[in-house]
Amino acid sequence: MPNQDPMLSTHALTLAEGKPLVLIGLMGSGKSTIGRRLAAAIGWRFVDADEEIEAAAGCAISDIFAIYGEPIFRDLEQRVLARLLSEGPTVLATGGGAWMQPQVRALIKEQAISLWLRAELEVLVDRVSRRDHRPLLKDGNKQDIMQRLMRERYPIYAEADITVDSSNGPHERVVERMIAALKEYPSS
Ligand code: S3P
Repeated sequence: MPNQDPMLSTHALTLAEGKPLVLIGLMGSGKSTIGRRLAAAIGWRFVDADEEIEAAAGCAISDIFAIYGEPIFRDLEQRVLARLLSEGPTVLATGGGAWMQPQVRALIKEQAISLWLRAELEVLVDRVSRRDHRPLLKDGNKQDIMQRLMRERYPIYAEADITVDSSNGPHERVVERMIAALKEYPSS
């Protein structure tokens, strides 16, 4: 866990003017794990949007998909994110499809700083293969599905304010790269 850097905390608040820092990227890119570490490093609170959606619905995301279908999940996701984005300085990890919703994307662009955690296919497939809870990956070959999602989503994820590679090295290094990018951000 990186040490909290009070200078950065002040700096991040100044540059973001209290805007949330929103992590986007494909399943397995490390949004929650890395987001938690980033939040600790800059002294902000961390919120995982998927957990908030599950709390709001009172059931697991896989059950929301299975019982109500993806459109209802996306609607809930949009409403929960709108609430979370209005709650001040927060590091917010979003589900991989959130940024793909035009209304969600517009809201994040308006109210937050977006950071895309980009990763290579092999790394993502390796990470998502460790658990079996993701509804979009339960029917079919994980590598094929992730490859399709990369093709569809990477050009849109590339609209993020900041892009950080999350394929290589331990999470601490990724957090350091994010912090370096945030320090650069206002002048870029
Ligand atoms: C999704 C990603 C998941 C979750 C849902 C849909 C997606 O979150 O929101 O299963 O569309 O990519 P993670 O990216 O945190 O796994």
